[in-house]
Amino acid sequence: MAKIKTAVFPGSFDPVTNGHLDVINRALNIFDSLVVAVAVNDEKNPMFTLDERREMLKLSCSGIENIEFDIFEGLLVDEVRKHNAVAVVRGLRAVSDFETEFQMAMMNRELNPGFETLFLMPSPENSFVSSKLIKEITRFGGDVSAFVPVPVTGALRKKQKNL
Ligand code: PNS
Repeated sequence: MAKIKTAVFPGSFDPVTNGHLDVINRALNIFDSLVVAVAVNDEKNPMFTLDERREMLKLSCSGIENIEFDIFEGLLVDEVRKHNAVAVVRGLRAVSDFETEFQMAMMNRELNPGFETLFLMPSPENSFVSSKLIKEITRFGGDVSAFVPVPVTGALRKKQKNL
């Protein structure tokens, strides 16, 4: 029987954007299953709690098969091992993303040479979308509904009211 190939898509997902969904769909065209793993990273001062981020991911991916959601604390290589994944998937929007991503991929390979890091390029309409910009526009009262899944638009509006 063929071995099921799982990949891990790690990130902050604060919040999930159309760019992330683009990468998720592309990854599922390659792998049998995907674990979307929300990283605990207190240094980033997130807008949403970990549970809120996972919930928005779940709602945004309803209808997508062979996907699961996890929250992980600690090293990505340990999360990869936990799920027996063969790869880590990351989105690459522009050359500016490359330097940090390359450094992380090479370091992860040093820590565990047993999996590959794959970079997937989103569609041009998603290539400039980032969670950071989404949050900034939201803080200043702007409309980001064109760049995030529907459940995230609602969650951002709620945050906007409480800012
Ligand atoms: O969406 P982000 O914030 O760009 O995701 C960054 C993330 C979560 C993938 C990265 O910070 C990470 O892998 N964190 C886990 C801790 C870890 O393994 N650090 C060493 C990386 S070489």
